[in-house]
Amino acid sequence: MKKAVVITGASSGIGAATAIEFGKNGYFTYLMGRNKERLQGVALKCRSGASIMSCDMTDLPALNKRLNEILSTSIHRVEVLVNNAGIFDVHTTETGTDEIWQKEFEVNLMGSVRVARAFFPYFKQHGGGSIVNVSSTLGMKPSANTGAYSAMKAAMINWTQSMALEGGPFNIRVNCVAPGIVDTPIHGFHSLEESKKGEALEKMKDLQPLGRIGTPQEIARSIYFLGDNELSSWTTGAVLAVDGGINLK
Ligand SMILES: NC(=O)c1ccc[n+]([C@@H]2O[C@H](COP(=O)([O-])OP(=O)(O)OC[C@H]3O[C@@H](n4cnc5c(N)ncnc54)[C@H](OP(=O)(O)O)[C@@H]3O)[C@@H](O)[C@H]2O)c1
Repeated sequence: MKKAVVITGASSGIGAATAIEFGKNGYFTYLMGRNKERLQGVALKCRSGASIMSCDMTDLPALNKRLNEILSTSIHRVEVLVNNAGIFDVHTTETGTDEIWQKEFEVNLMGSVRVARAFFPYFKQHGGGSIVNVSSTLGMKPSANTGAYSAMKAAMINWTQSMALEGGPFNIRVNCVAPGIVDTPIHGFHSLEESKKGEALEKMKDLQPLGRIGTPQEIARSIYFLGDNELSSWTTGAVLAVDGGINLK
């Protein structure tokens, strides 16, 4: 059976780059996300084959249908799950409405919890597996006005380590990547015209000891390292900061 990876939020940014990285390394990719057209564009770049599993993570019947389709395949053996789908909100303590907090909770935490819950018994049955959760440096060191996002990303780190303890005896490894500022559409600056984007990037330069923000490919390579069961066979419960050193400042 061909090895496969499931990636949530694969239609854009870090998830798209991760799908391409696993594809380069012989994995069939199951691409999850809402935007079918963008998922199709990513699928064309996945060298080892891809299947599009479009659904909204917060639509439970649709999510469960997609997960059942993947879990019942006899063509591929899913070895890796990458919980990457996410949204980013900026708000103050006063403007952080219930709606903002609940959406952050549903997409950035519960979406991943639900997918991992579906895969745990599958991995147990198949002798093991690997889960990579995409958190953030903000999950370790928050900034002002990101309360809901940072709290969900902190919860993701703690949850990763709890699952790593639980999964160890079943050869299920669970790790976390904590990216710093990466050039993806999750940020407003990504879609600015070139000169304005240049200005925004200039302002962010000094935040990182390495003097620049990251690319989706740089995060994808770390996700691939932690996901692949040969490359990181003795690593579980790890939180890998891939952030140009921003967490040191
Ligand atoms: N970029 C950064 O600086 C940075 C830093 C730290 C952590 N991260 C984390 O990295 C992950 C990927 O973000 P990105 O930067 O690559 O942003 P992005 O380009 O905006 O990608 C976000 C992905 O999440 C999916 N998504 C969002 N809401 C969804 C929903 N309700 N149902 C299903 N899929 C949904 C989007 O797919 P559709 O639009 O097709 O639904 C998209 O594929 C996120 O967890 C983010 O928090 C990013």
